[in-house]
Amino acid sequence: MLIIVGSRRDGNSLKLANKIKEAFDKERINTEIIVPGNQKIHICTGCMDCDKDGICGFTDDMKNNIEKVKNNNDLVFITPTRWNILSGDIKIFMDRLNPLFSRRGLKGKNMIAVSIGAKSDDLYSTEAALTSLISFAESSGMNVILDKKFNNCLGSDDILSHEDEINSFISELKNKINC
Ligand SMILES: Cc1cc2nc3c(=O)[nH]c(=O)nc-3n(C[C@H](O)[C@H](O)[C@H](O)COP(=O)(O)O)c2cc1C
Repeated sequence: MLIIVGSRRDGNSLKLANKIKEAFDKERINTEIIVPGNQKIHICTGCMDCDKDGICGFTDDMKNNIEKVKNNNDLVFITPTRWNILSGDIKIFMDRLNPLFSRRGLKGKNMIAVSIGAKSDDLYSTEAALTSLISFAESSGMNVILDKKFNNCLGSDDILSHEDEINSFISELKNKINC
């Protein structure tokens, strides 16, 4: 399982990713976390060369990331909510997956979509962020096997007070991937 974290700080997204990794390590399921925002990744120029040959002209950390995405069937995307949508770091990462997409390399993979935000559920802010992740999955041919919003998380530790929610999310995820 590959967990892609859309926030650079040691905050709620990374803390949730660590909880998931801890739980799946116990099940002997190999789980890796990446934080694209803390890597060297150029922004896609839209040249579309990768549509022709499946290769991106940039040499940066996306080369390794693409190999990781290729080698994992279960991809967990965790985005902090920013202005009701996904984080810029996650968007840059998605755009740079186009070489894989152009070779049908994302089709059939499992996407687990998670959004985290400061606002309450009734303001639909995390819902809108989640929708942007789900739209990406749909347009790239991935199957969304689970989605989840965490609300009322403003401070970088706030998610830790949602322990029951985290545990039920993790057990649902274990059921979905049959472990
Ligand atoms: C630029 C910016 C915009 C934000 N916009 C929203 C928003 O629209 N809705 C919301 O619920 N939270 C918003 N937040 C709050 C973050 O989503 C929240 O603090 C989240 O827990 C951050 O995740 P992290 O701790 O993993 O960085 C915003 C934060 C930043 C920095």
